[in-house]
Amino acid sequence: MIQQFKKIENLRGELILRGDKSISHRSVMFASMADGVSIIRNCSDSEDVSSTINCFEKLGCSFEKENGLIKVTGRGFKGFSVPDSELYAGNSGTTARLISGILSAQDFGSIITGDESLSSRPMMRIIDPLRNMGADIIAGEKGFMPIRIYPSKMIKPVNYILQVSSAQVKSALILCAIHLEEESIIVEPGPTRNHTEKLLGLKTVKSDEGTKIFCSKKNYPEPFEITIPSDISSASFFIVLALLTKNSALTVKSVSLNETRTGVLDILKKMGGKIEIEYLKEEKGEPVGNIKAYSSELKNIDIPESIIPNIIDEIPILSVAGLFAEGNFKITGAKELRVKESDRIKSLCHNFKLAGVDVTEFGDGLELKGNIGNEAVTLESFGDHRIAMAFGVMSMLMKNGGSVNNFESVGISNPKFVSQINQLIG
Ligand code: S3P
Repeated sequence: MIQQFKKIENLRGELILRGDKSISHRSVMFASMADGVSIIRNCSDSEDVSSTINCFEKLGCSFEKENGLIKVTGRGFKGFSVPDSELYAGNSGTTARLISGILSAQDFGSIITGDESLSSRPMMRIIDPLRNMGADIIAGEKGFMPIRIYPSKMIKPVNYILQVSSAQVKSALILCAIHLEEESIIVEPGPTRNHTEKLLGLKTVKSDEGTKIFCSKKNYPEPFEITIPSDISSASFFIVLALLTKNSALTVKSVSLNETRTGVLDILKKMGGKIEIEYLKEEKGEPVGNIKAYSSELKNIDIPESIIPNIIDEIPILSVAGLFAEGNFKITGAKELRVKESDRIKSLCHNFKLAGVDVTEFGDGLELKGNIGNEAVTLESFGDHRIAMAFGVMSMLMKNGGSVNNFESVGISNPKFVSQINQLIG
């Protein structure tokens, strides 16, 4: 579906978004693992989280949806039923990688599949360290999906230093390790999102090697209740649009302000973005607050490579912000973008070039110089939700608007993107 966007004048009002996708995946998984009934409020309505729910339904868990909450009946320690067919993770890397950690510790075999995009994303990053823990797990050709897991016989605790800066890899190992009485230590050299650690209440200690994460069966989840704060990654598209339009004043309510996710706000503020944060409360260790964004004049800044894991999902929209800011936008040290839902460096460069921007592509980033053309163009989402929304925002900032092809991919994280925009432009 081609979605057309007109230039918008401003963005005003309050926005309430559904729950953070990363926290929702984990809440669904931990509730499914727990022995009894858990309550999840404001769960993400994304296709990705539906993929996680579908997988756990096949493992014998039940999900009852009523008035904005989900009642999950989990199966308890090693209580899953044996799936009678493959577990389909759809487009979701988080589903495929985290569930592999959980299933590596079960007494039955399973097969995990995914869509075309997920089937071309690297899985050896979890297969190798899970095998090192004794898991009997293999990937398909070239280290891609399907993932085949055989009944666990020899899972053992580990002291392992992560080789890739990835919360998905870290979480897969933790979720396998919490099936063992003995303690495992997973060492993370640089910080990545820490929702798994927070929700499971894991002990973490900073050391010279990085953060040491301690986990064992003591940390196996028990039934819980959670109200999931709104998704900062979804919020960032609206925040950038408010900053870059005149007379805009936007409040995004009750957003997750986890310190491993707020790099996007730090960068936009340093660029001159008028952003105010009103801290509200903590929910299961996750800080929650309202974010206010007002029209601003943005200037490009140096983006340090150390912040990349924190902003990895926001680079597409930050590059749109950088295009409309004074000076040149440049990002390096972000080669992980090549293995996301699309090769995001390629997707970004392709669309910026279509819009007449002078683009330099690097192996690990890109640089944008000069201005955008005035002609309305049809941009390509490459089936990638964050590319679709970033170029939807760019289209709304262009003099003659623009269109985005295959825009339906926004359903992967925020199916209501267009109606939320319409509500805020009055
Ligand atoms: C996620 C971790 C990140 C992120 C993804 C969600 C998670 O991926 O890009 O959208 O929920 O753990 P990596 O761990 O591969 O960096």
